[in-house]
Amino acid sequence: MRAIDIIRKKRDGEELSADELTFFCRGTAEQAIPDYQITAFLMAAYLRGMTDAETAALTIAMAGSGEQIDLSSIEGVKVDKHSTGGVGDTTTLVLAPLAAACGARVAKMSGRGLGHTGGTLDKLESIPGLSTRLSRDQFLAQVSRIGVAVISQTPTLVPADSRFYALRDVTATVDSIPLISSSVMSKKIAAGAQAIVLDVKTGRGAFMKTLEDSRRLAKSMVDIGRRLGRSVSAVITDMETPLGAFIGNALEVQEAIEILSGKHVGTPLWEVSLVLCGHLLALGNLAKTPAEGRVKAEAVLRSGAALEKLAEMIEAQGGDPRVAHDPGLLPQAGDRIEMRAPREGWCSGVDALDIGRAAMLLGAGRTKKEDVIDPAVGVVLAARAGQLLREGDLLATLHVNDRTSLGEARRFVERAFQWSDEPTGARPLVREVV
Ligand code: URA
Ligand code: CA
Repeated sequence: MRAIDIIRKKRDGEELSADELTFFCRGTAEQAIPDYQITAFLMAAYLRGMTDAETAALTIAMAGSGEQIDLSSIEGVKVDKHSTGGVGDTTTLVLAPLAAACGARVAKMSGRGLGHTGGTLDKLESIPGLSTRLSRDQFLAQVSRIGVAVISQTPTLVPADSRFYALRDVTATVDSIPLISSSVMSKKIAAGAQAIVLDVKTGRGAFMKTLEDSRRLAKSMVDIGRRLGRSVSAVITDMETPLGAFIGNALEVQEAIEILSGKHVGTPLWEVSLVLCGHLLALGNLAKTPAEGRVKAEAVLRSGAALEKLAEMIEAQGGDPRVAHDPGLLPQAGDRIEMRAPREGWCSGVDALDIGRAAMLLGAGRTKKEDVIDPAVGVVLAARAGQLLREGDLLATLHVNDRTSLGEARRFVERAFQWSDEPTGARPLVREVV
């Protein structure tokens, strides 16, 4: 078999076989195929698309290009969750301890943030002492012992995706549904969980800006999972406005702790975390329906057991467990700068992309992989869509260390708030379930 023949076949719109995709992914992982052939293949796949069977075969081939984690030594139902990424999306930090406290086994490998969306690892590492670099044996032992671990994805997991993704990023081939769904699902398949809930974001702050595209991506990922024998559901959730009110790394840990402590009841982050947990429990046969799972999750949250589970996880990964009861121990920014309403009126929306960019300008995110983030900085929103505000009411507090880009960050926050003279209806948070 030769890479050039596979590229030609895809260029001409033909369907590739499982053997051809396996050859190509193995050659990619083993560095036997050069960058220029990989990029030609990716562009052909981007322009020609892929059938469902082909996308599933690509996913299996990618997952098989490296190590696959065997979770069979862990008793119980192994669950995982993936979010397509958003602003103020702290659901993993709420959901992982919550699902574990409900009896699921959460063996989660996570990534770092890039661009305006945050990454779970960066958030967790803002907890003093906490490490996300566990060996495979430590990872399995921790999940067996306490039911939850969140660690960084090892470089041996899906090496074909690491090369594909880096090349897609610089060749305008990221936003292809078969390439995104095989990329996401190959990592979920290799990480080994039986039940997987997907949180597919839709709106200004998301990868997929329209409901129609989000639905296509969700269907594609659920289809792959089911073809590969996993229990998978996707929940399409709104990302026009930030999910949480806290945007920044330590700030998002603080918000997750507060939710697990019984605060912020009824807020979007609280709601989405419970909905996702309900689905996860149903997929793992720990509840009969997602609705029953959600009721169970809410009761467990209220009992305080999920907060204790978070403290256990922090301690097991070398962090200071006192953080769970005293978020003041997290890194704090030197300055807090309040921004106030310039006028009276109804807040009709808070643009997630603008808030994400503001947090990034303050140092909470990366523009390139090598950038160093400041765990303490970010934006805390005080006002949300649907509220009537008076001139001078608090809109947001910026948590600042380096003032270099403060002016620009302030302009993004100002611009993020949309105003109306009439009351506006709130957008539905959970758009669809696939
Ligand atoms: N996240 C991934 O892991 N892969 C993609 O292709 C897009 C988002
Ligand atoms: Ca975020």
